[in-house]
Amino acid sequence: MIQEKVEILWNREVSPTYFSMGLTCDAQYKDAMPGQFIMIRLEGLSLPLLRRPFSICRQIFGQDGGFKGIELLYKVVGDGTAKLSRATAGDIANLLGPLGNTFTVPETVENIFFVGGGIGVAPMVFLAEALKAKQRDLSSCTLFLGGRTGDDILYAELFSDLGMKVCLTTDDGSKGEHCLVTEPVERAIQEEKPGLICTCGPHPMLKSVADIAQKYNVPCQISTETIMACGMGACLGCAVESRRQSERFLHVCKDGPVFDAEELKL
Ligand SMILES: Cc1cc2nc3c(=O)[nH]c(=O)nc-3n(C[C@H](O)[C@H](O)[C@H](O)COP(=O)(O)OP(=O)(O)OC[C@H]3O[C@@H](n4cnc5c(N)ncnc54)[C@H](O)[C@@H]3O)c2cc1C
Ligand code: FES
Repeated sequence: MIQEKVEILWNREVSPTYFSMGLTCDAQYKDAMPGQFIMIRLEGLSLPLLRRPFSICRQIFGQDGGFKGIELLYKVVGDGTAKLSRATAGDIANLLGPLGNTFTVPETVENIFFVGGGIGVAPMVFLAEALKAKQRDLSSCTLFLGGRTGDDILYAELFSDLGMKVCLTTDDGSKGEHCLVTEPVERAIQEEKPGLICTCGPHPMLKSVADIAQKYNVPCQISTETIMACGMGACLGCAVESRRQSERFLHVCKDGPVFDAEELKL
């Protein structure tokens, strides 16, 4: 983990209220793993005082193959993200990371379901690209991505470019199937049980996916989000209820953000 001042390479709106930000960063991010996150705040602003957590969405490599930095994908939801959205290339940010644990995909597992809700697609992109970089054949894997409207469906084409099947849903029917993302997930499990489900998204979606995984006895790893003040295990503000005998609470920043669905009381 390193704390550093980094340069913003780009910051552009990719869909209404959603932004992609490229950042230079230390070479140790070359070894970052899918599921890990960073804490960021802009330099020179008095507020917000605290850094905000974001998943690493992609690693950026130059044409010569050299490591250049990381990409974040974020949604503007409040003051911190609104300020972030106004940053421009060349601005300096204060970055802490890489933080947290990672998705763990055993080498023999095939037919993986990636289930994303809205901005929850961000760590799924990193996971798919990291598996592809390890020469994994992703043609048996499926991305299920849901959003409220078509504007909430981001980066789906990256997954098809990697050879994955893609299934889209929206709550208003403006893109893909007109239903919750969990509907095609359950249908697909009934047709053929996946080897693993990896998921990230809003809490109700995570709970439904975890319930479905338990019902069909499929291993499921979920990337959770909580409000985070420090990102390093110091403030204990990111506690989630655990099912472990030994610990009543787990902390998303140091025990997660990725958990076996069975470990948490969702
Ligand atoms: C490990 C981790 C990874 C994340 N990855 C991403 C990502 O890749 N892209 C992205 O857009 N967001 C991500 N988030 C959520 C992001 O950190 C928050 O949206 C951001 O901190 C909000 O800051 P703000 O100052 O704009 O909003 P605030 O003014 O702090 O809050 C605005 C509203 O959003 C709610 N909120 C704030 N943080 C969260 C949260 N973590 N979960 C649910 N609701 C929240 C608040 O309760 C409030 O209602 C991640 C969070 C965690 C913990
Ligand atoms: S955010 Fe402070 S302990 Fe997790």
